[in-house]
Amino acid sequence: MIRKCLFPVAGYGTRFLPATKAVPKEMLPILTKPLMQYGVEEAMNAGMSTMAIVTGRSKKAIEDHFDINYEIEDQIKGTDKENYLIGIREVISKCTFSYTRQIQMKGLGHAILTGEPLIGNEPFAVILADDLCDNGSDDGVLAQMVKLYDKYKCSIVAIEEVNPSETKKYGIIDGTQIEDGIYRVHNMVEKPNPKDALTNLAIIGRYILTPDIFDIIRDTKPGKGGEIQITDTLMTQASIGNVIAYKFKGKRFDCGSVDGFVEATNYFYNQSK
Ligand code: UTP
Repeated sequence: MIRKCLFPVAGYGTRFLPATKAVPKEMLPILTKPLMQYGVEEAMNAGMSTMAIVTGRSKKAIEDHFDINYEIEDQIKGTDKENYLIGIREVISKCTFSYTRQIQMKGLGHAILTGEPLIGNEPFAVILADDLCDNGSDDGVLAQMVKLYDKYKCSIVAIEEVNPSETKKYGIIDGTQIEDGIYRVHNMVEKPNPKDALTNLAIIGRYILTPDIFDIIRDTKPGKGGEIQITDTLMTQASIGNVIAYKFKGKRFDCGSVDGFVEATNYFYNQSK
């Protein structure tokens, strides 16, 4: 059983400057709900209740969001506006949140290693909250991956087919299809140029990782951009057949980019009508 979900949220969100000078990227809302809350709700939908958050400087708003604001509660008590808080109240009452800080931004792999004290020696999920996923009323992406983990008991990455011209934005996998939409990964490359890309199967911001990943990250040298890339560490697991790639069911929006953010806003607005 997977109980814990790690959220690496220490990045600077430079593509959203100046908005992200003081507001964490993960707190930008799609309609009225911050990206981070969508992520936590997806983890809850997958049966997880322990949220382990790797933060950085100027991310305090995330901690405040998953806490009670007594002043607002007092102001709106007994009015219709209480309805706006039903969702977040449920999240706060059902989950525990723990935090640790990544002092220097040394990459996603390093951020995950920073979360080790919050995770311990058990398999765990990772959500990058700026990848917003939706699968309507059916299982969310993480819930789909938890079911797969029960079968394969190894690390799992969520993938989708991207336009071949866009491989430079993603970790790209190659593997053998073992079931419909499920691959045993042989090779992975971080952000390849389209001409060097193995396939157009791109890793998105959902992972299930086995805890041996922490020792592997410790032994992994910085890769592309001088950062410790999670793709490089996963390659060590893949070399012994321990990584599955899963073409998830649902839609994903890259809310770390302005285009994806606007697309998600329009999508959720139309859904709410
Ligand atoms: P991104 O590179 O997409 O996020 O990292 P960013 O750096 O915040 O955004 P831009 O490119 O400057 O606009 C993917 C995820 O990994 C986290 C980020 O917070 C984001 O959720 N991350 C990345 C860390 O937590 N620590 C790091 O050192 C690097």
